[in-house]
Amino acid sequence: MAGSNYHAFKHSYFYTMQKILFVCLGNICRSPLAEGILLHLKEKQHLPFEIDSAGTAGYHIGEAPDPRTIANARKNGVDLSALRARQFQASDFDKFDWIFTMDKSNYNNLLKLTSNKEQQQKLKLFLEFATGQNGAEVPDPYYGNEKDFEKVFQLVYSASLQLCEKLNSSSD
Ligand code: 4NP
Repeated sequence: MAGSNYHAFKHSYFYTMQKILFVCLGNICRSPLAEGILLHLKEKQHLPFEIDSAGTAGYHIGEAPDPRTIANARKNGVDLSALRARQFQASDFDKFDWIFTMDKSNYNNLLKLTSNKEQQQKLKLFLEFATGQNGAEVPDPYYGNEKDFEKVFQLVYSASLQLCEKLNSSSD
């Protein structure tokens, strides 16, 4: 029935462009990985997403992702080499529909920068939102080894699959 289709159209995230920002501390390990994986899934699944990433800190502005993150993602079929780090800006709250932080520390830092309820509602802990696990975080692999980078890849990849499904399903 046309009426119910219209209802589904109006209320499904699928038909609306979703602007998604991933945030970590340095924007060279976890959030560019999430950005690259989402870009990869967007291509494969033809998803109406605009995707970006940023860091709460400005240590690595203009840099490519960490070489270990690039190498591990490449091994898993995801190319991150074109991405460049930038710092989160308060104006990002108005530019994006969803702001997904990699851990609680990033979450709390951004929460302090919000200026209204609408901005606060856009802010989510990535793993908690995607997987439903209360308080789950993506661990920082920066001081870790190759195994830690692989663990982070698998964690972010599987959560990203769930995120795509969640944003694609009806919000009714
Ligand atoms: P990220 O990892 O937040 O996942 O990009 C880090 C990268 C760099 C630093 C810390 C964490 N750093 O201290 O330079």
